[in-house]
Amino acid sequence: MQHEALFPPLKMGALEAKNRIFMAPLTRGRAAKPMFVPNAMMGTYYKQRAGAGMILTEATGISTEGLGWPSAPGIWSDEQTEAWKPIVEGVHEAGGLIALQLWHMGRIVSLAESAPSQPAKRRLRAKRIRLRAGRTTRPRAR
Ligand SMILES: Cc1cc2nc3c(=O)[nH]c(=O)nc-3n(C[C@H](O)[C@H](O)[C@H](O)COP(=O)(O)O)c2cc1C
Repeated sequence: MQHEALFPPLKMGALEAKNRIFMAPLTRGRAAKPMFVPNAMMGTYYKQRAGAGMILTEATGISTEGLGWPSAPGIWSDEQTEAWKPIVEGVHEAGGLIALQLWHMGRIVSLAESAPSQPAKRRLRAKRIRLRAGRTTRPRAR
């Protein structure tokens, strides 16, 4: 099997990947302390893989209501955004590129599991009332 085609650089607009090996997004569930905030272990993990032409990060929640995966990182708060910066810098220092995969899990997200915001909690209560009254509701993506 020939692998040479994987190693030439690849120009993508303003970006140039040093090779054509891209790391697939892989949810690791390590953003646990504090919950949903990227951390140093994740920084080590991505820096170790900076030899790839480009890293696509694990899917990263865009809102409390849109994330239903325990310990997955988010990027909806200033704290999370700041926590991603050293991770990105680490990959750049090691000569790699990294792109964030944005994640909204859609209607399947359970409000109960996703640490909902206050408005979402109110909607959950309202939904229970409608269900008790015997009406069916189709959740809306938020
Ligand atoms: C543990 C695990 C976590 C994954 N997390 C993501 C993810 O966060 N985002 C995504 O788009 N795909 C995710 N995937 C899908 C992988 O990117 C996918 O498996 C990979 O591209 C290889 O494709 P294949 O499984 O069809 O061979 C995940 C797969 C595994 C096994």
